[in-house]
Amino acid sequence: MAKEIARGAEAIILKEKSRIIKNRIPKNYRHKEIDEKLRTSRTKREATIISKLPGISPELIRAGKTELEIEYIDGQLLREILTQNPLLAKKIGRKTGIMHDKNIVHGDLTTSNMILDKKKQVRFIDFGLSSISYKTEDKAVDLHLFREAVESKHYTAKKEIWKAFLEGYNPKNKKEILERLEKVEKRGKNKQKY
Ligand SMILES: Nc1ncnc2c1ncn2[C@@H]1O[C@H](COP(=O)(O)OP(=O)(O)O)[C@@H](O)[C@H]1O
Ligand SMILES: [Mg+2]
Repeated sequence: MAKEIARGAEAIILKEKSRIIKNRIPKNYRHKEIDEKLRTSRTKREATIISKLPGISPELIRAGKTELEIEYIDGQLLREILTQNPLLAKKIGRKTGIMHDKNIVHGDLTTSNMILDKKKQVRFIDFGLSSISYKTEDKAVDLHLFREAVESKHYTAKKEIWKAFLEGYNPKNKKEILERLEKVEKRGKNKQKY
């Protein structure tokens, strides 16, 4: 029997043996047709991107309209362990770099969407907001989201985490992406001020 293991903002996650079923449930506060379009497009997006990232994401087993069957990754959420093990961020950085070299941006790069598997590999999950992009800007925004997530959830280790992340993060145009990150963050700060 399938057992519920998580209920996020978007979806219910059931686990059955070595697979999970991610079901995007209707949101009553959204207009019915818009809601259905959104759930369908995010499901499709997640399926497409997962298939392009073997070893980084879990394996896709079956794709329905608003439901995906995905390999269950046994391990620990980075959210629970990164503060105590900041050097794990190097592995996060490496995987992020590989993903960006494939011109894929995750769109929600937080430590709730990363699992350290039993082989001590970092795996990313939750690709509903991801996209294919060649833009330096979009890759920089991915880094910005990660950095913000670290600031809020792993505050006491944020410096070590960011340093380790940057050691592992080595995409082809690292320099441009990091320069753009500076701009993205300056923009954010100005917005806060005014
Ligand atoms: N493939 C998976 N293997 C193991 N656990 C998973 C997997 N996918 C999701 N989970 C668990 O379910 C939670 C929510 O899944 P996620 O895909 O992030 O959905 P949401 O869009 O609701 O955030 C995750 O934080 C994780 O604990
Ligand atoms: Mg999530």
